[in-house]
Amino acid sequence: MTKKTRVLSGIRATGRLHLGNYLGAVRGMLELQNDPRYETLYCVVDLHATTTPYDPKILKQKTRDVVLDYLSCGIDPKKSHLYIQSELADLIAQLSFYFSTVVTIARMQHLPTFKDKVKQYPEHATMALLNYPVLMAADILIYKASLIPVGIDQEPHLEVAREIARKMNDTYGTDFPEPTRFATKGEYVPSLTGVGKMSKSVPGSFINLTDDLETIKERLSHAPTDSGKGEKIPKEGGVSNLLKLVELFEGEDKRVHYEKLYTSSGIKYSELKQGLAEAIYKELKPIQEKRRELESKPEYVDEVLRQGAEKARKIAESTVNEVKEKMGFK
Ligand code: TRP
Repeated sequence: MTKKTRVLSGIRATGRLHLGNYLGAVRGMLELQNDPRYETLYCVVDLHATTTPYDPKILKQKTRDVVLDYLSCGIDPKKSHLYIQSELADLIAQLSFYFSTVVTIARMQHLPTFKDKVKQYPEHATMALLNYPVLMAADILIYKASLIPVGIDQEPHLEVAREIARKMNDTYGTDFPEPTRFATKGEYVPSLTGVGKMSKSVPGSFINLTDDLETIKERLSHAPTDSGKGEKIPKEGGVSNLLKLVELFEGEDKRVHYEKLYTSSGIKYSELKQGLAEAIYKELKPIQEKRRELESKPEYVDEVLRQGAEKARKIAESTVNEVKEKMGFK
């Protein structure tokens, strides 16, 4: 039997997921979980959540919310190992320290993600924030995972993980793989405002996984449109974003159908939005039902997490031991 390719991904413990997380990351995780060529590990990264200001009183709840959303969306504990990062803090933070011996400060300071966060929270340019990508590399390489389903915004972090793998291998003779990104079709989920991408921090931009049909319709009703007719299909803005959402939820044919209308008799946006709202809700309804079911089974969820962490720990321990040996501690 050939060895399965190991897959790892994590979502920050920042509370309930929205449609952007679902399409951008979770759908990719599901695809890989359901393909027997892969062994999948998925986690909630709560250590990473402490690299920007956060409230310790609700961290646990936010972590739990992501766990429940993962399971509601179809992460199947029979196929994937699901765990909370801090349950393995002893091993992951340890490995991240070892990795920091091959990373320069300058390299970390120049990452766009670091610069953005420093701009956002000038009082919080902490060591933990600077170390964010190193910790992420430890998340991945501790399992020698080589395929990572994450959004395109994470590419700079994966580049760091590859550099760390190479440097560790060159310096200490380890055998870390260079992880690559697994791109999902819906990795860029456009904002309902017509500008940029769907984001929790931009009001009116997103749809929640908990939204009912009426709420989805309401949110879509504010999405900007135009006269519905023109010579050229808009490449950006409200209409372009709506067409992208149509493609993601109703398929490419439907998008082409609307594009043809645009250049002929015209699109009736009330109809487009009605159809789109229904298609989105159709996908969300089973997730919402599953979520309610899981909320009533806390012991089951605890057991899933216990088993997930146990499995992850076994692999992680062996990697950390190997690194300690190669680095001369043993
Ligand atoms: N940085 C990722 C994000 O913000 C979260 C993350 C942390 C992650 N560790 C990871 C993603 C390991 C994939 C693999 O989305």
